[in-house]
Amino acid sequence: MTVIKAESASFAYPDGTQALHQISTAIDSGEFAAVIGPNGAGKTTLARLLCGILAPQSGKVWIDGWDTSQFPASRLASKVGYVFADPRLQIFTSSVREETAFGPNNLGFSPSETEAAVSEALQVTGLQDKASAHPYDLSYSERRLLALASVIAMRQQAIVMDEPTAGLDGPARRQLQNALALLRRRGTAAIIISHDMDFVADCCARVLGLKDGRLIADGPCSDVLARAELFGQELPCAARLCRASGLPAAYSAEEFVAALQ
Ligand SMILES: Nc1ncnc2c1ncn2[C@@H]1O[C@H](COP(=O)(O)OP(=O)(O)OP(=O)(O)O)[C@@H](O)[C@H]1O
Ligand SMILES: [Mg+2]
Repeated sequence: MTVIKAESASFAYPDGTQALHQISTAIDSGEFAAVIGPNGAGKTTLARLLCGILAPQSGKVWIDGWDTSQFPASRLASKVGYVFADPRLQIFTSSVREETAFGPNNLGFSPSETEAAVSEALQVTGLQDKASAHPYDLSYSERRLLALASVIAMRQQAIVMDEPTAGLDGPARRQLQNALALLRRRGTAAIIISHDMDFVADCCARVLGLKDGRLIADGPCSDVLARAELFGQELPCAARLCRASGLPAAYSAEEFVAALQ
C-alpha cells in the first residue's frame, strides 16, 4: 500500500530559492528508501515536504491519502514521524522518559498504550537505563537516539529520518540498526536521507537520487549506487573493494561476502 506519494511537487523558499522541481514518487508500507545527493541538492527540503512540514507550491503530496496542503503538520503527525538531523531542534523536555512520552500522549494514546510505546522505544534504542536522565546529560549519540525513540514511540505508518548516522559512535550505530529492525517488523515506510553510502547499501533496497532539486534516479539500491559519484558520493566500501580487486560489483556487506564466495 502506498503511504507517501508526491506528484510533480515543487518547492521554493520565500527568498526565491527553487529547492525542488516537479518531484514524483511513491513509497509503500515496509519500503526503506534512501535519498542521496550532494550538499544543497534538496534532500532536507524533500524530507520536510514528504512529512508535511512544508507543502509544495505546485503539485501535490499525499500522506496516507491526505493532501498535505489541506492538513496542518500537527494532524499529519499521526501518520508520519520526522527525525531531525539536529537533535537540538527536537528535544525540549527535561527527561528521557518525558521526551519519549510526549508524542504518544499528544496523539491521544491511553496511559497504558503510552507506557508500552515508551518502553519499547527506549528498549530498541538502548536508552532504557537512562529513562530518568536529563536529555542534556546524554552524549551526542544518545541525544540522536532519543530523538529517534521519541518518533518511534508514536508508531506512525511512515518515518522520515534526516542523516540518521551522522555523528553516531559505533554502539549508537548498532542501536540505530536495532531500531530499524523494529520498524521493518512493523512494516513502517522509511525515507532515509543519508551521505553514508555503506549504511544506505546495507539498509535500503531502494534509492532516490537528487541533484539540483530534481529527482534524477529512483530505483534498486545497486542501480543508483553504481552512479553514486553523480550524486556527489563515494561508492560504498564494498563496491570500491570489488572494483580494486576485479570482483563482480557488490554494494552491501552481504553482497560483498557473496561476491567473495
Ligand atoms: N530556509 C531556507 N531559505 C532559503 N533557501 C534555503 C533554505 N533552506 C535551504 N535552502 C536552499 O535550498 C536548497 C536545498 O537545500 P537542502 O537543505 O534541502 O539541501 P540538502 O540536500 O539537505 O543539503 P545538505 O546535504 O547540505 O544537508 C539549497 O540551495 C539551500 O541553500
Ligand atoms: Mg540536509
